[in-house]
Amino acid sequence: MAAPEGIAGVFDRAADTYDDVGVPWFRPIAAGLVEELAVQPGERVLDVGCGRGALLAPLAGAAGPTGRVLGVDLAPRMVSRTAEDFRDVPQVEVRVADAAAPGLPLSSFDVVGSSLVLFFLPDPAAAVRSWADLLVAGGRMGVTTFGPQDERWRKVDAVFTPYLPPEMLDARTSGSRGPFASDEGVERLLREGGLVEVRTAHRVVEAVFRDAEHLVAFSWSHGQRAMWEAVPVHEHPALRQQLLELAGGFGDESGRFSFTQHVRHTLGHRAPEGS
Ligand SMILES: C[S@@+](CC[C@H](N)C(=O)[O-])C[C@H]1O[C@@H](n2cnc3c(N)ncnc32)[C@H](O)[C@@H]1O
Repeated sequence: MAAPEGIAGVFDRAADTYDDVGVPWFRPIAAGLVEELAVQPGERVLDVGCGRGALLAPLAGAAGPTGRVLGVDLAPRMVSRTAEDFRDVPQVEVRVADAAAPGLPLSSFDVVGSSLVLFFLPDPAAAVRSWADLLVAGGRMGVTTFGPQDERWRKVDAVFTPYLPPEMLDARTSGSRGPFASDEGVERLLREGGLVEVRTAHRVVEAVFRDAEHLVAFSWSHGQRAMWEAVPVHEHPALRQQLLELAGGFGDESGRFSFTQHVRHTLGHRAPEGS
């Protein structure tokens, strides 16, 4: 994967439109994770790679005013915009920190959640171990990653493939042979991080696009922006045209179409005291 500062730069540049182009995507995905984590009023919760707050918002609702929800992210603009959104929610704090080394007190959270972040990290296994150390005994962790992709996503990604450096060839999952290729792979990361009773919950979300232009706007607003940025600027118009023609073929008479995305929430907890 790209160096952490490279990823943070991509998300900083995406921050102004991230999750804001009219495609419900990060929020429905995060909602599934919050349900699985069953956060209770008063709990202390960490959201690693909080982005624009897709997971923070429902976590804050579940933890309530007696709880505490800390969101950390490496991209300063994501953090400043998100902190501004939550300035009137006293239980929420948002800070710049590296998910690989959050620098937080050990055994200080009841719950750690992270949605669509782990596959950006250079050493996901080490990150999971460090997050597990932040949990109290019995504390829960849940991480969300992508399951099998809609075939049409692959076709969209394939338009960018000739331009991508090897480490970005499968940016959504860090490679089809890595830990993110299967439920077992991600479960192993959590188990090796010291968590017990690890399991996977599956959900399916649907991304609905008004037309091909909408898909292009969406592609700039999230991690796929890294793919655009790998293409020389003078080639953007031709690539855009290629995408419009491809996605034009997905739509009904009005141009509308949707992609189905399988999502996996991988869950575990730190063994209770004395077990
Ligand atoms: C796909 S977004 C997901 C954001 C949010 N969790 C959501 O569900 O909308 C990935 C996020 O991870 C952050 N990120 C990437 N690498 C990171 C790192 N090493 N430490 C902290 N955050 C990181 C990015 O800045 C970005 O906000």
